[in-house]
Amino acid sequence: MKIDFEQNMGLGASAPKHVAIIMDGNGRWAERKGLLRIAGHKSGVETVREIVAAAGESEVKVLTLFAFSSENWRRPETEVGLLMELLLTALRQEVKKLVRNNVRLRFIGGRDAFAPKMIKSLIEAEAATVNNTGLNLVIALNYGGRWDVAQAARRLSEDVLAGRRTPDQINESVVGQYMSLGEFPEPDLFIRTGGEQRISNFLLWQLAYTELYFTDILWPDFGKQELARAIEWFKSRQRRFGRTGQQIKQMGHA
Ligand code: IPE
Ligand code: IPE
Ligand code: MG
Repeated sequence: MKIDFEQNMGLGASAPKHVAIIMDGNGRWAERKGLLRIAGHKSGVETVREIVAAAGESEVKVLTLFAFSSENWRRPETEVGLLMELLLTALRQEVKKLVRNNVRLRFIGGRDAFAPKMIKSLIEAEAATVNNTGLNLVIALNYGGRWDVAQAARRLSEDVLAGRRTPDQINESVVGQYMSLGEFPEPDLFIRTGGEQRISNFLLWQLAYTELYFTDILWPDFGKQELARAIEWFKSRQRRFGRTGQQIKQMGHA
């Protein structure tokens, strides 16, 4: 089911409904303190907790977090292994709290790559929160923007082959429904911590008109004040979606 929303124009104090975050800088945070990189990832989990709570208390309806990219498998085996363990532990510890806080949890990304016990806990975590009606928390795991386009194309062609659609019915709106997050409004605000100004194969289709916010703050140091700062910055943007600034003013958004 697609959640309806008016195109969120920003400006005039409208808060972002969907915030998508690349949580970057855990490793450098740890290295600067003379710690092992995994200590940075552990500290990053604390930040996730704080940001999820802050989003739940705000007007944000959907929070999408990039936790592990399809390229992160290239990291040393030990780091990948520790990240998987950390994820499993976090799931085990957090799901009850998410249920209590009315958060609905979902995962996007290719699941086949994970160990069976991981796949099982992803399914169980989603099932445990399926009836929650508060914040939608989406965790991107083994996710890549190009993977997403490819999986949408694959599923769409399966539907065409099965006679459920014809090629001439395929338009942007239909493709959008096959993409991950298809049931949500597109992200209004994108945040990347850690100082890099790149997308790193995160949501390629969905970020077409998202406001992009980059901060040098490393993810373990990002907190609810920084989230509030990013949201304030978002509110100061005039979102034109191709129109002129004058048109936007006449539409009453400024
Ligand atoms: C982001 O922090 C977390 C993951 C990619 C899993 P990094 O681990 O990329 O931290 P830096 O960029 O090396 O500092
Ligand atoms: C992006 O961060 C992926 C996640 C935060 C999960 P990376 O640290 O992997 O990105 P690059 O490799 O520096 O572009
Ligand atoms: Mg990084």
